[in-house]
Amino acid sequence: MKIDSINIDSFKQIVFFTGAGMSAESGVPTYRGEGGVWHEYNWQEYACQEAWELNPEKVFDFHDLRRAEALKCFPHKGHDVITALQNTHPNVLIVTQNIDGMHQRAGSENVIELHGSIWRIRCEKEGWVKEDLITSNFEKRKCDCGTWLRPDIIWFSDMLNPDTVQQANEAISKCDLFISIGTSGVVWPAAGYPQLAKSTGAMCVEVNPEPSEQAWMVDDVYKGKAGEMLPLLFDV
Ligand code: OAD
Repeated sequence: MKIDSINIDSFKQIVFFTGAGMSAESGVPTYRGEGGVWHEYNWQEYACQEAWELNPEKVFDFHDLRRAEALKCFPHKGHDVITALQNTHPNVLIVTQNIDGMHQRAGSENVIELHGSIWRIRCEKEGWVKEDLITSNFEKRKCDCGTWLRPDIIWFSDMLNPDTVQQANEAISKCDLFISIGTSGVVWPAAGYPQLAKSTGAMCVEVNPEPSEQAWMVDDVYKGKAGEMLPLLFDV
């Protein structure tokens, strides 16, 4: 396929905004498409505060499985393109909805994780958050204080972390190039980010084999997979 590459040097601030489709070619399932996690699992039983309060063991089992599956997967060429761009352009940020840590595993830095991470755990009673990267299973399910620990993930109906939202809003409203990759654009507030970027004057493009809910308002839609499109779109 012949497509014109994007000259990143002509932009001052660049945001890559990623969703589950960014990790799809690594082998991590998306949430809503064919084979999506929410087709196999009812999120009400696995991914909300009520589910965790009712049956924390079941919620931990589900997230241990997500960790084990993520560890079987590896970053692909699309992740490498973003990392390479970050290495040469300090003005490249990533805002991701993904909780799988795949951008960091590809060597990316400056990753704003809107929906948290399966590689962090927190104690709500003692008020701490820690990385937990050692094994596929979370190291501990209960805190030394006796309460259940909680994966540091934004579940359905949770408030997003206000500091993370502020960082994302700031990055997106300052950027002049916004590249949305692999998100269906149905989960808010993330779904509003292409509109935010557009309203502050950024050029907005989308990479997705299927148009997202926000495809109508971006400048260009590149219909294709992240791992195939990103190497074509950016010379690194
Ligand atoms: P979805 O599963 O809703 O959407 C995945 C998107 O990726 C779809 O638009 C697909 O067309 C696209 N896609 C599939 N394969 C692709 C590929 N190889 N390259 C590029 N795009 C591809 O996932 P999200 O939009 O990320 O929340 O979902 C948003 C949030 O809903 C997630 O962060 C998650 C979920 O509940 C939490 O984990 C807290």
